Parts: sequence; structure tokens; C-alpha cells
Amino acid sequence: MATMTAALLNRVILTRADLAHGSLILINRKHPFRREEAAVQAELSREAGPLLNRECAAQLLRLIAACRGRRTLLPVDGYRTHDQQQTLYLGSLRSNGSAYTERYVALPDCSEHQTGLAADMAKREPRIDPICPFFPDSGRCGAFRRLAADYGFIERYPAGKESITGVAHEPWHFRYVGVPHAHMMADNDLTLEEYLQLLTGFREGRPLHTPDGSALIYYVEASEDETWLELPSSGRCRISGDNSGGFIVTILL
Ligand code: DAL
Ligand code: ZN
Repeated sequence: MATMTAALLNRVILTRADLAHGSLILINRKHPFRREEAAVQAELSREAGPLLNRECAAQLLRLIAACRGRRTLLPVDGYRTHDQQQTLYLGSLRSNGSAYTERYVALPDCSEHQTGLAADMAKREPRIDPICPFFPDSGRCGAFRRLAADYGFIERYPAGKESITGVAHEPWHFRYVGVPHAHMMADNDLTLEEYLQLLTGFREGRPLHTPDGSALIYYVEASEDETWLELPSSGRCRISGDNSGGFIVTILL
């Protein structure tokens, strides 16, 4: 199941495997990635340069265009396989040591690069650091950061939240989560970890209404086997697993 568009469906039946799929899946040390690589790869595109989930790549290109940043803003890394993440991790251990690697490189299966939903951005310069690309807060890079939520992206590892994300401040690493969620996180200074925790308090009968009136959002705890959802037949409904115990339903109004 992709993050589903269910405009014509009244009933959606989800399995436990669907928990690992969708734009809101949480990947970190406590929540390793567990989707089939072939399924992720079937959704990738090279449209923005490095391989990225198709929707993420299209939105990234729109964001770069909105910043008039085609010449300055360079997507340098996107999707990585398990083996590529392992090679990066072991190579960094050898070259940079364990303290640096623990801060900036996720363990294999604990990297959201394996989802295709994470993009590392660099300011275009003759030499670009492959692990910590330079992406300042000024000029076109600053504009990109300020407009990111309008296109569904969050700065995934902000300063001051290291104890929550388990990763050092990475001003170059952006994660696609979808527009209403990116706005909720950016406007309320929440990491993905904090936001998903918050959403567990919003259920079908008492959903979260986004302040701009663009969406209703609620959490559904997954059943032991199949989870049945009844969704409105009008409106655009999207469902994402949280890669833990539930699903997030987003109804775009
Ligand atoms: N740099 C991030 C944490 C990763 O390797 O996924
Ligand atoms: Zn990254």
C-alpha cells in the first residue's frame, strides 16, 4: 500500500505490513525500517537528481523552483539501500571514527534514506562533503528552509532535539512528510517523533483540525491482524503507517 488516495473508497482494509508504508513512517534506532527494498524501489524517480520517492522528488523540484534555486540548491543524496547505508556507516567508522559516525550516520536499517523520503541538500560548491554537506541558513538555502513546509518537507534533525531524534543537528537533511504535517511540525517546533506521539491523542471522533482548515488528521491503532477503516467517500483521504502500532488518516478538505 502506498500512502493511499481513497477518494472513492468507503472501506479500506489494512494489514500489519501496511504499518511500514507511507509518508509518515518513523525510522530511527527504536523503529528500524522493515519494508521490502523492491517495493520501495518501485516508487523511486531520478527526476530531482538522486533517487527519491516519486512524490518526494516532484515536490522537491517544485520547492527548488519556488526558491529560484536551480543553480544553487543541489540535492546530493536520496535513497540508499541497506547495503549502501552499511557501506557508508563502515566507511565513516574507518575514516572519521566512532564519535563522528554515531552523530551523523545512522546504522543500517535505522536510516530514513532507505525509505526514499529523505533528501540531503547542498549549496552548489566545487567541493561537497558527502556526509555533512554545507547548507547554510542564508540566501537561497535559507529560502529553501523557510518554504520547505509549503511543499511537505521538514528539517528532520534540528538543533536542540538531539536527545529525541538520536541524531546530531543536520541542517542539510530534509524529510518529506506531506504538506499539512510539515506545517504542523514546523509551526509547533515538533520533530517527527514528537508529532506522532501527539497524534495518538487524536482519534476519529475527535480529530486534529489543522489551523488553516486544510485537513483533518487522526490516529487509528492497528488491530492484531486486519484494521478496517471507514473513510468518507468525498474528500481526499491519505493513510500512512507510523512504523509502530498505528495509522495516521489525513483527510484533505
Ligand atoms: N545522516 C542520517 C542520520 C542517516 O544516515 O540516515
Ligand atoms: Zn540525510
